[in-house]
Amino acid sequence: MFDSGVGGLTVLHECLVSLPGEDFVYLGDTARFPYGTRPAEELRSFVADVAGYLLDLDAKLLVIACNSATSAGADEARRLAEPLGVPVVTVIEPEAEIAAAITESGKVGVLATPTTVAGGAYRRALEGQGRALEVTEVGCPDLAPIIQRDATFDHGVIDTVRGYVKPLKQAQVDTVILGCTHYPLVAPLLQRILGRDVRVVMAGHAVAASVQRILAERGLDNPREGEGDYRFLCTSDADSFREIGTRFLQMPLGEVRRVDLRG
Ligand code: DGL
Repeated sequence: MFDSGVGGLTVLHECLVSLPGEDFVYLGDTARFPYGTRPAEELRSFVADVAGYLLDLDAKLLVIACNSATSAGADEARRLAEPLGVPVVTVIEPEAEIAAAITESGKVGVLATPTTVAGGAYRRALEGQGRALEVTEVGCPDLAPIIQRDATFDHGVIDTVRGYVKPLKQAQVDTVILGCTHYPLVAPLLQRILGRDVRVVMAGHAVAASVQRILAERGLDNPREGEGDYRFLCTSDADSFREIGTRFLQMPLGEVRRVDLRG
């Protein structure tokens, strides 16, 4: 499983809840964070680097726990993984399905990185749900970096987040997709600004369900009773990844290894 940083831990958490017996390797490409303000072409090559690295570790399934990487490079990851018989599970489509199913007014908001919004992946996924929806997308260049650096939630930060949410309130959406895996880490703040009546959709649970289904269908699931093993890799400072990751996952990360993807 991989992300540009700690955001994908929100997806890993759901997988650990649903699939405690599996072994997980999580890679945060922290040296090249943020992904969400980079051109799609550049992200495609990052996805190729990270997917290639994890496939070399004999991953039996690959999860792209990053919306920006999914929007720019899901096909690239599949091109590398599928000839090896390794399925690829991504974000974006699951949230679109859930949002289309639960919105009452048909007015759906999306908060995502600029790269994800520019790529149009949510708009396409929502259009494909067979229901007329009014979609309002907001690119949030600063939100993932605020979360990744574990910023204090002072008035400046809150005002920035309020600014991102404002167009969604103006559009009177009743459902908001958190279209970046970092955003569930500040779900309480977002829910407070959006209000009780707005439903917030996140990828983690649906991704865990897909992983579970695909592993079972292919007979790849691990039947062990106890807990599996988990390992964390990152591409820059391991200590800060361990510190922030431990706090978000609320469990000891153990040794975090810094790796060089091109090494
Ligand atoms: N977690 C990544 C995503 O889901 C974004 C963070 C970044 O900009 O790198 O899009």
